[in-house]
Amino acid sequence: MCGIIGYTGTEQAAPILLDGLRKLEYRGYDSAGIAVLYDNALTVCKITGRIANLSEKTEDGKATPGQVGIGHTRWATHGAPTDENAHPHKSNDGRFAVVHNGIIENYQALRAELVEKGYTFESETDTEVVVHLIEMYYEGDVKNAVIRASARLRGSWALGVLCTDCPDTVYVAREASPLILGAGVGENYFASDITALVSYTRNVMYLDDGEFAAVSPAGITIFDGTGRPVEKKLHRITWDVAAAEKGGYEHFMLKEMMEQPRATEATISPRIRDGEVFFEGFALGEEELRSIDKIVITACGSAYYAGCAGKIAIERLCRIPVSVELASELRYADPLIDEHTLLVVLSQSGETADTIAAMKECKARGARTVAVVNVVGSTVAALADHVIYTWAGPEIAVATTKGYTTQLSVLYLLATYLAGKKGSVPRERYDACVAAIRSIPKLIQEAIDLNAAALPRLARKYCDHASMFYIGRNTDYAVSLEGALKMKEISYIHAESYAAGELKHGTIALIEEGQPVVALCCNEDVTEKTVSNIVECKARGAEVLAVTFRDNGRVISQADDVIALPRMETVFSPAVEIVPLQMLAYYVARERGCDIDKPKNLAKSVTVE
Ligand code: AGP
Repeated sequence: MCGIIGYTGTEQAAPILLDGLRKLEYRGYDSAGIAVLYDNALTVCKITGRIANLSEKTEDGKATPGQVGIGHTRWATHGAPTDENAHPHKSNDGRFAVVHNGIIENYQALRAELVEKGYTFESETDTEVVVHLIEMYYEGDVKNAVIRASARLRGSWALGVLCTDCPDTVYVAREASPLILGAGVGENYFASDITALVSYTRNVMYLDDGEFAAVSPAGITIFDGTGRPVEKKLHRITWDVAAAEKGGYEHFMLKEMMEQPRATEATISPRIRDGEVFFEGFALGEEELRSIDKIVITACGSAYYAGCAGKIAIERLCRIPVSVELASELRYADPLIDEHTLLVVLSQSGETADTIAAMKECKARGARTVAVVNVVGSTVAALADHVIYTWAGPEIAVATTKGYTTQLSVLYLLATYLAGKKGSVPRERYDACVAAIRSIPKLIQEAIDLNAAALPRLARKYCDHASMFYIGRNTDYAVSLEGALKMKEISYIHAESYAAGELKHGTIALIEEGQPVVALCCNEDVTEKTVSNIVECKARGAEVLAVTFRDNGRVISQADDVIALPRMETVFSPAVEIVPLQMLAYYVARERGCDIDKPKNLAKSVTVE
């Protein structure tokens, strides 16, 4: 995710901006830049790579005079990580510079309109439309131009705007992207993240969606979309800097789990327009679709498990055979893949060695490839014929959470898209799927809220066991695979997932007094069957923790403990069902004193075989 910072006051701005950007480094970025106003002119300096490079280029900011400025760290979304795509972006008349955190969803239409009007673009970014819109609407009043430009945008934004006609004021705007104003004495600040501000001021105000502010050394004026002033309370920050980097959360994993409603929303909402699913830069024509006789999903670890859940949705809705293959196996399997295969490659990092190798192997055999990736410009993205990005933002904890749920979100969109193209579901079912996918972010939030108080208590109950079983059927089984992986990778408890129907074929021999069994029961088609398995486990002394709908009395009455979920569409339920299981693993690991963000022996990105 991008980060932004702004300063206006009596000190030289550039060193403060660079320092703020360094504080934002932990979020991940691929390029950075600053713009400073001095002598009624804008100096913009931006560069691909580390902030150290930007520091070097500006002699730690000393070579860039001026007491008002804006800065940005970019996590590439639209357009590769290049100097041109780095922020700030300037208007054609050189009067404005803009930094932006978020995604402008309607940028293509706006870009076409601006090109038509004669504006020229220097980058591939969605952001650049903003600065040209502001120039277009400017009639001597920056505040008005920023309001009018913002009214044309759809998506999310935290904006910082400099104008050569206002030598000491920075204008900011917010919609669905964090923006914090920092109040000093004779100097004021803003940033996308408190981390960038706390060493300068602990007095902050939070801008809300649809609000704007003019930030000058004399003060901060907040106003709404009609220009009317808005009163804000000043808050005092008491966290230390290290906590602030994690947004006040104890661990990145916890922060990233809590970000899932926002991350899935950012992944889903730009892909649904007027009730139809579409993907920017990816479309299958009728002919092409007819020629595909199977889909192969390949990935590693959690991404593979996301594929297992995605397979169920695609097969149910599209009636196309889907196989899910571990990339480490597929690469050596002499696979039955040809030009009639659509290969879907899942990877958060886009740099997993086995995934890349499997992809190359399948491409060489003629497969068409669609990559579902979080990191723009990564190897998997570069190799693919089509890329669908998950807009999860950088994931820092080794254990993936929002990476998994955003991958599932894309797979569900893809399943619905293909079903629509193939006509394999009636229109009402298509509409119901779109509505169900749209509701995923809200349901994830509900799942978090419903279980936030109980999970630490459940974790205390289960944390001392040597092993845990996870059971489920169909979609529930797919989620249990990921739930068990989360538990073992961060808590080091041996956790295994079994298809519930397989218990009798061997595994039930291991069930003894006190053995914890996490029983997933959100798939109503098979609930009765799983309830029978719960009863069998209990008869042998197991402690059953059921994951089910909050009103599913049939399951609740059999369980020792319950993780309760809101009701949801079965085929898409894994995206919600997994969240309390991530949280359970997190709290168990915390009870056991594990190094949650950096579990032993694991790396965030497995770039070697
Ligand atoms: C999950 O928590 C793991 N860290 C791991 O299984 C991961 O999902 C796997 O290595 C694949 O990574 P990728 O999505 O970056 O390709």
